[in-house]
Amino acid sequence: MKEIRVGIIGFGTVGQGLAKAMLAQRERLQQRTGIDFVLATVADIAVTSLPDEFGQVTLTNNAEDIFNDPTIDIVAELIGGMEPARSFLLKAMEKGKHVVTANKALLSVHGKEIFAAAAKNNVEVGFEASVGGGIPVIKALKEGLVANRINYIKGIMNGTANYILTQMTDHGTPFAEVLKEAQELGFAEADPTYDIEGIDTAHKLAILMTIAYGLNVHLDDVSVEGISSIEPIDIEFARRFGYRIKLLAISRNHGESVEARVHPTMVPEGHMLATINGAFNGIQLRGDTVGDVLLYGQGAGMMPTGSAVAADVVDIGRNIANGSVNRVPALSYLPENIGEPTITPME
Ligand code: HSE
Repeated sequence: MKEIRVGIIGFGTVGQGLAKAMLAQRERLQQRTGIDFVLATVADIAVTSLPDEFGQVTLTNNAEDIFNDPTIDIVAELIGGMEPARSFLLKAMEKGKHVVTANKALLSVHGKEIFAAAAKNNVEVGFEASVGGGIPVIKALKEGLVANRINYIKGIMNGTANYILTQMTDHGTPFAEVLKEAQELGFAEADPTYDIEGIDTAHKLAILMTIAYGLNVHLDDVSVEGISSIEPIDIEFARRFGYRIKLLAISRNHGESVEARVHPTMVPEGHMLATINGAFNGIQLRGDTVGDVLLYGQGAGMMPTGSAVAADVVDIGRNIANGSVNRVPALSYLPENIGEPTITPME
C-alpha cells in the first residue's frame, strides 16, 4: 500500500488533534484511499515525551529534523503566530514538501508569499483548518461551489466570541468569566484579544474572500470592531426588540469593489445565524448558481480542527498518489492585470 508520511511541527491543541485523528482514522483512511497515512515525526520545543498511543512516532525538538527527512511528504505547521511559522512553511516547501497549516493570522498577512512559494516549488498548501474549525468551508468554496460567482459571505467565525455572547445572553454570565471558560476549553487564541476584538474573525474573512473572489485580500483590508464593549444592557435591549447580538463577518462582492467588515451585529431572532450558539460557527455563502448555502459546525477545539487538518493531509496524499498537484491556491492563478481590489467598508 502506498505510504504517505507526515511530520507535525507544534504539538499543541491542533497538533494533537491531527495526531489523534490520523491514529484513530488510520484504517478507515486506508480503506477509503488505498493509502497508509503515517505520522512519522512530531517536532515541538516544549514537549519531552509523547503519550503511549504515539509509540511509533519520532519526537524531536528541532523542526530541521522534519525538513531534512527525505521520507516525509507532508509537513503540518501547527505552531501558530507569524514567526517561526512563516519561515518553517517556506523552508518545508523549498525542500519540496507539501504543507498544511491552520494558521489564519499568517495566511491573512503573508498569504501571497506563501502561495507564491507553493507555486514555485510545485507543492500544495492545505489550509482548511484556518477557517471554521471542523467545517469544510474552504473545500466548499474551491470544489462544491466552483461553478458560482460568490456574491456574499456572512458568518459567525469565532467560537470564543460566540461562546461569550451566548453565555452573556442566555445566562447573564459576566464577560471576563466566560472568556476564562473559553480559554480553559481550548477555544481561545494564545492572545484572546484576537478573539474578542474581531481580529481572528477578520483573518478568516480575508482568507475566505481570497478563495471566494480570487483576490489578494489582506487583513488590513478588513474593517474590524470587536465585542469587548458589549454590555449586558446592550444584550437586554437587543432581546427586547427581538434581536441577538452576534459578532459577524460580512463581505459583499460588488464586482468593481468588495466589502469586508467584522462587527457586533443585531441579528433578528428568526434568522439562521441567530440560532448558532456556543462555540459553534455558521457561515452563509451566496452563489449566483446555487443561491444560499449555510455551513454549520464546531468552529474551534482539538478534534474539529484536527478533522480539518487531517482532511488536507488526505487530499494532498491522494494527489501525491495520483502524481498531481491539484489544489493550487487561488492567488497563484490570479490574473495580475485585473488590478488591486478596492475594498470599501460599509458606512
Ligand atoms: N480562537 C478561535 C475561535 C479558534 O475561538 O474560533 C478557531 O479558529
